[in-house]
Amino acid sequence: MLSTFTLLAALATFSNAAPTRRVTCPGGGVVSNQACCALYPVLEDIQKNMFADAGCADAAHTTLRVAFHDAIGFSTTNPKMGTGADGSIFLFGQQELGYDANLGVADAFNLEAPFIANHSIGVADFIQFAAAVGLTKCPGVLRPTFMFGRTDATAPAPDGTVPEPFQDAKTILARMADAGFTPAELVALLASHSIAGADDIDPTLSGVPFDSTPSTFDTQFFVETQLRGTLFPGTGGNQGEAESAVAGVLRLQSDSELARDNATSCLWQANVNNQALMASSFQKAFAKMQITGQDASKLVDCSEVIPQPPALSAADAKAFFPPGLSVKDVEQACATTPFPNLPTKSGAPESVPSIVQDPATQGPCDDDGTGCVANFTKSA
Ligand code: HEM
Repeated sequence: MLSTFTLLAALATFSNAAPTRRVTCPGGGVVSNQACCALYPVLEDIQKNMFADAGCADAAHTTLRVAFHDAIGFSTTNPKMGTGADGSIFLFGQQELGYDANLGVADAFNLEAPFIANHSIGVADFIQFAAAVGLTKCPGVLRPTFMFGRTDATAPAPDGTVPEPFQDAKTILARMADAGFTPAELVALLASHSIAGADDIDPTLSGVPFDSTPSTFDTQFFVETQLRGTLFPGTGGNQGEAESAVAGVLRLQSDSELARDNATSCLWQANVNNQALMASSFQKAFAKMQITGQDASKLVDCSEVIPQPPALSAADAKAFFPPGLSVKDVEQACATTPFPNLPTKSGAPESVPSIVQDPATQGPCDDDGTGCVANFTKSA
């Protein structure tokens, strides 16, 4: 039998629950804030025509990288370092895409610019929205949140805001700290490199993955970067490239250093075989990154527009040592906790295939910024 107290408490809870008004958008989507309706036509278009149901593939990787490069154009100490996630990377593409650290981001301009031109939402919002939607193609990602209503840039970010793969851990951590990110948040964000690859570090190769499973947001990236480097996927010796442990996989020098630096090695190792930690810490840090430099109080929470990502199977969530490798190949860096002992994947060592490049990433915008003309007019 319910006590009077329980009954009164239940009634109080019931009467406090304010009814939430829901708005049905023209296409049928239901949201709490009408402003979010503007995102549905964009969602439909990019799902069908930009990501084209290709899964966690090149377009999803490309949209994620540019979202970081746009957002990190910001400093908590120097207002001249940019205004964060503000679209400046495309709005001032002729300048920003010519910076060394943005080598390859021209791909994102070619991919996204035609869609930006066709929709009324701002450039900053489009970049972050496309990245969030792209992430939902990747099994293992927790549904990203999405805040809407960013202010677009009126000036470019200067050169020097984006970390470079040949910089040491100290320099990268200092740059990230200046932009407002802790070492833990940087490591969380670098889970992105589990669904990534390089085109330009080794100019003779294209789409060389950073781990052996670039189409799943799993913890293999954190395992494989901790293994002793023994080979290069190509001829090697390129600036910003370190030896990797798996044929066909490229290791960035920056990832190699952060995996071994005192400030980050234990944070790095904590992700190994801990899918829940990697996914939740990334979700949180990514939400913060997406609104860098923006006034959060002016943004509308439109997270409900973001689709649900596919689940990672229990088998795929289990980390492993690549064929032929074992815990003996680990370069232990975290001083306080031993590296987890993982099963070795059966079979002979194979070369991991490169990521197929989306032809839509080729276009008039070149890696030196020429042709990256932002001819999308936006109504304020
Ligand atoms: C220490 C900081 C970082 C450095 C030095 C770095 C460097 C790089 C480099 C050199 C590439 C390959 C570029 C090429 O050859 O085409 C790359 C790819 C990529 N990065 Fe990072 N990155 C960093 C952090 C991040 C963060 C925080 C994110 C996302 C939140 C991110 C997302 C990606 C993605 C998705 C790709 C693959 C792009 C593609 O396959 O098209 N990176 N990164």
